[in-house]
Amino acid sequence: MENRASTDPQHRARPETPAAVSAGARRNPAAGPPAVTVEGLDKVYDSGHRALQDVRLEIERGEIFALLGPNGAGKTTLIGVICGLVNPTDGQVAVHGHDIVRDWRRARGMVGLVPQELATDTFETVWATVSLSRGLFGKPPNPAHIEKVLRDLALWDKRDNAIMTLSGGMKRRVLIAKALAHEPRVLFLDEPTAGVDVELRREMWEVVRSLREGGVTVILTTHYIEEAEEMADRVGVIHGGRLVRVQAKDELMQELGRKQLKLQLQEPLEAVPAELARHGLELSADGCELVYTFATQGERTGVTGLLHDLAAHGIRFHDLHTSQSSLEDIFVDLVKDSR
Ligand SMILES: Nc1ncnc2c1ncn2[C@@H]1O[C@H](COP(=O)(O)OP(=O)(O)OP(=O)(O)O)[C@@H](O)[C@H]1O
Ligand SMILES: [Mg+2]
Repeated sequence: MENRASTDPQHRARPETPAAVSAGARRNPAAGPPAVTVEGLDKVYDSGHRALQDVRLEIERGEIFALLGPNGAGKTTLIGVICGLVNPTDGQVAVHGHDIVRDWRRARGMVGLVPQELATDTFETVWATVSLSRGLFGKPPNPAHIEKVLRDLALWDKRDNAIMTLSGGMKRRVLIAKALAHEPRVLFLDEPTAGVDVELRREMWEVVRSLREGGVTVILTTHYIEEAEEMADRVGVIHGGRLVRVQAKDELMQELGRKQLKLQLQEPLEAVPAELARHGLELSADGCELVYTFATQGERTGVTGLLHDLAAHGIRFHDLHTSQSSLEDIFVDLVKDSR
């Protein structure tokens, strides 16, 4: 990925948001317990499959937390446990300090879940479905809140339409509206943008950001790493039921990221000269491009020494550019290492 982090206004705006502050270690104890705490969580399904192993996690209020992992890693299981849909085998989970077993009613009332699977082909109208969801949590009717949710999700014009007549993207937004109907403080989005087009995906991201501005903690799973890169304050990587990393996204990218310097040569080379071996250069198949890879966190990049050596050997270039590894590259490495 080209290095767009520094030019993207969303990135620059982020440090001012409360979530960016809370995502670090500087939690204000007066703000109350974290949005979610998970301790020593294990889940063994009846089949004997161990889907989660000793998961520990704390998610701050107002964070956008992305859970990344390959198919079958345990993302949906973890969300299911926190939302009270899957019984844990061992461990403790609390939402805003409410234990999901001892204090399940309050814990459930705090969470909203947008499930991975769409199951919304009903004759019911948008308005009725979303209002019913609120009632299921024992909350008194609040048409003003339902109206706000539908307007925020651009569903107001569709309120009297039957769900089955809506497009796939609109149905997904109805699922979000249902999950927000009872005013949850923590919203789980399990693959919110799977199979939706690019425009709608961007629209979803806006919705998530505005929810966070309203003080909602958002936990999402995604296979689109770009999504985590764009949205998340922190990232958790889950693999084989274990959380293999939890870190601020920016730190993760800084720590594990690599930069590449690509030089377009004036004259093609047959091989990298032996005198330049210490730089670990790669030569493209056509011999026209030299690629130098270096760690972004290093104080000394080695670029100066490289350029000096190239000049000393009469290797000249007519163009150069740098790129930075994406979260995707980092993720692939992490999952590979933890196998
Ligand atoms: N009800 C169940 N009974 C038995 N095994 C299950 C059950 N639900 C999930 N599993 C298994 O637990 C593991 C984790 O599944 P889970 O759905 O949590 O993965 P995931 O990370 O959400 O994957 P995906 O990216 O495909 O959605 C998988 O091996 C899955 O087959
Ligand atoms: Mg899943």
